[in-house]
Amino acid sequence: MGNISPASGGDGAARIIVALDVETQEKACSLVRELAPPLRYFKVGFRLFVACGPSVIAALQGLGAKIFLDLKFHDIPNTVAEAAAAAARLGVAMFNVHLSGGREMIRAAVDAAAAAAEQLGRSRPHVLGVTVLSSFHEAALAETGVARTIDDQVVALARLGLDCGLDGVIASPREAMLLRQHLGGDFLIVTPGVRPAGAAADDQQRILTPRQALQAGASYLVIGRPIIKDAVPRQAMQNILEELNTEQ
Ligand code: C5P
Repeated sequence: MGNISPASGGDGAARIIVALDVETQEKACSLVRELAPPLRYFKVGFRLFVACGPSVIAALQGLGAKIFLDLKFHDIPNTVAEAAAAAARLGVAMFNVHLSGGREMIRAAVDAAAAAAEQLGRSRPHVLGVTVLSSFHEAALAETGVARTIDDQVVALARLGLDCGLDGVIASPREAMLLRQHLGGDFLIVTPGVRPAGAAADDQQRILTPRQALQAGASYLVIGRPIIKDAVPRQAMQNILEELNTEQ
């Protein structure tokens, strides 16, 4: 594994991951053409991957995109290992697993991704962990048999993930602060739920602006609708970059 610090100071473009939450390869490619460069990172989730298949990844990479494959693997260790190896062979920059899959599953994902990447002479993709989905509230977590509070469970699962060799976690901006306090600075935090000042909150709770999210300890910001639903996505991106790159 190389250096996991995401970007040198001031390069806001290197900190943004645009969520390509669209349903066709054509729309996804057109967004990448519009935004890259200066942006480099794009997230492919269930919606696009299930609709288009792995060929969408190659098409986006052909346009210079680095891909975060957001499929949140969670299964028995052997199955997750096969999926992780396949993700590494696709050449994605990052992919993720559910930390509630447990130690053996997490280790299997990291090891299989490393082995597959090594066979191809590439560096291993970053493997990230999902702690507790932001849709959970305390009662819903208790109903799954977890007696801890959400905050305690987030920290405990993140600690487990890092102990198993993960590169980082997905976390809300509020959790980012908590995780930095408990677990330090030496891992990636990828943060959705970010909204530029003045943008619609959509269905996101506890939103922070991009600058606030970085100050809270985020390494990368996942931003979808504020960019992709804007009438002029490149202008929306420019506005965010200006905010990020302005010293305050
Ligand atoms: O459009 P928006 O900026 O809300 O997109 C955020 C992206 O991050 C979406 O792809 C969404 O699925 C994902 N995400 C999230 N909240 C989480 C985890 C992932 O919004 N807690």
